[in-house]
Amino acid sequence: MGKLAYICFKCQVLTRRHPIVFKWMVVSMLVYLSVTAYILCFKYPMDVPMRHPPYVLGQNGMSLYEMDFSISKVDSFCAEKTNFVFIKGMKCATSTLLAVFYRFGYSRNLSFVSPLGNKIYLNWPFPMTRLDFRPSNRGYNILTDHAIFTENLMSEIMPNDTIYISILREPFSHVKSVIQYFNILNISGVQRNISDPLSVYFSSIEQYEAIYKSQYAKQRWCVPDGFSLTKNLMSHCHGMPLGFPPGTKDISNDHAAVESYLEHLDKKFSLIMIVEHFYESVILLRRLMCWAFKDIIFIRANVARYDFDVTKIDPHVVDIYRNWSSIDYRLFHYFNQTLWRRISEQGPKFFEEVVEFKYVQNEIDVYCQSIYNLGKLSEYPSNISKFVVPPSSWTGQFSVTPSDCWVLGPNSYDLQKKVQKENDVNEAILLSKLYLLPDNRALNMKGLC
Ligand SMILES: *[C@@H]1O[C@H](CO)[C@@H](O)[C@H](O)[C@H]1NC(C)=O
Ligand SMILES: *[C@@H]1O[C@H](CO)[C@@H](O)[C@H](O)[C@H]1NC(C)=O
Ligand SMILES: *[C@@H]1O[C@H](CO)[C@@H](O)[C@H](O)[C@H]1NC(C)=O
Ligand SMILES: *[C@@H]1O[C@H](CO)[C@@H](O)[C@H](O)[C@H]1NC(C)=O
Ligand SMILES: *[C@@H]1O[C@H](CO)[C@@H](O)[C@H](O)[C@H]1NC(C)=O
Ligand SMILES: *[C@@H]1O[C@H](CO)[C@@H](O)[C@H](O)[C@H]1NC(C)=O
Ligand SMILES: *[C@@H]1O[C@H](CO)[C@@H](O)[C@H](O)[C@H]1NC(C)=O
Repeated sequence: MGKLAYICFKCQVLTRRHPIVFKWMVVSMLVYLSVTAYILCFKYPMDVPMRHPPYVLGQNGMSLYEMDFSISKVDSFCAEKTNFVFIKGMKCATSTLLAVFYRFGYSRNLSFVSPLGNKIYLNWPFPMTRLDFRPSNRGYNILTDHAIFTENLMSEIMPNDTIYISILREPFSHVKSVIQYFNILNISGVQRNISDPLSVYFSSIEQYEAIYKSQYAKQRWCVPDGFSLTKNLMSHCHGMPLGFPPGTKDISNDHAAVESYLEHLDKKFSLIMIVEHFYESVILLRRLMCWAFKDIIFIRANVARYDFDVTKIDPHVVDIYRNWSSIDYRLFHYFNQTLWRRISEQGPKFFEEVVEFKYVQNEIDVYCQSIYNLGKLSEYPSNISKFVVPPSSWTGQFSVTPSDCWVLGPNSYDLQKKVQKENDVNEAILLSKLYLLPDNRALNMKGLC
C-alpha cells in the first residue's frame, strides 16, 4: 500500500514537472504492449493444433492425408477458412472444383448443404428454397452443389463469416461447351451432315432455341421447359434477374441496373475465378482461404470432346453470340478485370507460386492417371507407393496416396453421394420432418435433377 502511494506520488511529481517525459513513457509503453501482442497473436499463431485431424475415409481404412501438418510457409499467419459458398455454374470447370471442395470439407468433417434424395442440384436453375436441401443439426459450412446465387436464403442458412466464390468462363468458349454437353445441336434439330453446324445454329439461333426450350423437346436432361442455356446463362446463375422463370423481373435491357448488379456481385463475392486463368485463380483461392497446396490439388474432370469442329469458327458467329448473350460478356469482362487487378496486387512472388503449383499439380495428375489405369481401388496390389511432394517455399511436404486419387477423381460426384448417404442416416429424424412439409410450388418452379 505504502509502495503504491509512493509510486503514485512519484508519478504525480513526474507528470507535473516533466510532462513530455511522462508522455513519452506512456507512448513507449503502449508501443511495447502492442508489439508484444502482435508477436504473440500473429507470429506464433495457434493454427497448428487447430488443423483438424484427418477424417478416416473408411475405404481400405486409409486416411485422406497423412498426419503431415507442415504448413506452407507463405501464410503461416492465418487460419484456414472453412465456411464458403461456391456458385457452381454449368461447364466452367466446376466439376473439377466440386471434387476439390468436397474433399476439403469431407476430410474435415464439415457440413454440406446437400441436395435431397438422389438429386444432384439445389433446385437449379430456379432459386434455391428451404425445401431443396438436407437438414443438419450442426448448421452448414459449405455449399458447392449446383444452385443459382440465392442471396437471401444463403445468407440465412450459412454462417455469417461465409466467403462467396465462383468461376466464369470466356462466353464463346462457354457456349461451345454448353452446346456440346447439353446436346443442343441435336435436340434443336440442326442437321449433322453439314460442315459447319455451329454457323447454321447461330444464324437462326432464335428459331433453334425455341425448339430446344419447347415442352416437346423430350431428350433434354435436367433442363426445364423455357430455360435458355445459351443466353446469359452465367449471369442467371449468379442471381441476376433476367426474366426466368417467366413473369419475374428482367433487367436485361437496363444497362445501369446490370452495371449496379455487377458491382453488387463484386462486393458480395470475395473471389470470382476465371477458367482461362485457372492456375492463377486457384492460387488466389488458396491465399484467400488460407489453404495449403494439398487442398487445391485437382484432377481435371468432365473435359469436353466436341462433336463439331471447334477450330474453324466463323468470326461472324462470335459476333452474333456477343450480341445474343451480351450480359454474359459484360459479366465476364468485368470479373476478368477484377481478377487481374487482384493479381497485380499480389506482388512478384505470386507468379513463382503459380509456376510451382502447376509443376506439382501436373506430377500428381500423372501419378493419379496411372492409379486409375490400374483399375478399381479394391483390386490392385497394396504395395503401390504414394507420391511425395517435397517441401518448397510454397508448401510443406505432403503425400498423395492411391485413395486420395480416388477421392479427387475420376468421378467427382462420388463424395457427394457419400455425403448424401451419411445424411440419410445421421439426420433421419430431421429428414422425415422435412418430407412432411407441404411443397406448394408449381411444377414449373421446381428443378428436375
Ligand atoms: C463429425 O462431426 C459430427 C458432428 O459434430 C460428429 O458427431 C461426428 O462424430 C464427427 N465424425 C467424425 C468421424 O469425426
Ligand atoms: C453472426 O450473427 C450472429 C447472430 O445474428 C451475431 O450474434 C454475430 O455477432 C455475428 N457474427 C459476426 C462475425 O458478424
Ligand atoms: C439426335 O440423336 C439421336 C440419338 O443419337 C438420333 O437418333 C437423331 O437422329 C439425332 N437428331 C439429329 C437431328 O441429328
Ligand atoms: C443431310 O442429310 C439430309 C437428310 O438426313 C439431306 O436431306 C441433306 O441433303 C443432307 N445434306 C448434305 C449437305 O449432305
Ligand atoms: C442483336 O440483338 C438484338 C436483340 O436481341 C437484335 O434485335 C439484333 O438484330 C441483333 N443484331 C445482330 C447484328 O445480330
Ligand atoms: C483477362 O484480362 C487480362 C488482362 O486484361 C487479359 O490479358 C486476358 O486476355 C483476359 N482474358 C480473357 C480470357 O479474355
Ligand atoms: C508389388 O507386388 C507385386 C506382386 O503382388 C510385384 O509383382 C511388384 O513388383 C510389387 N511392386 C513393387 C513396387 O514393389
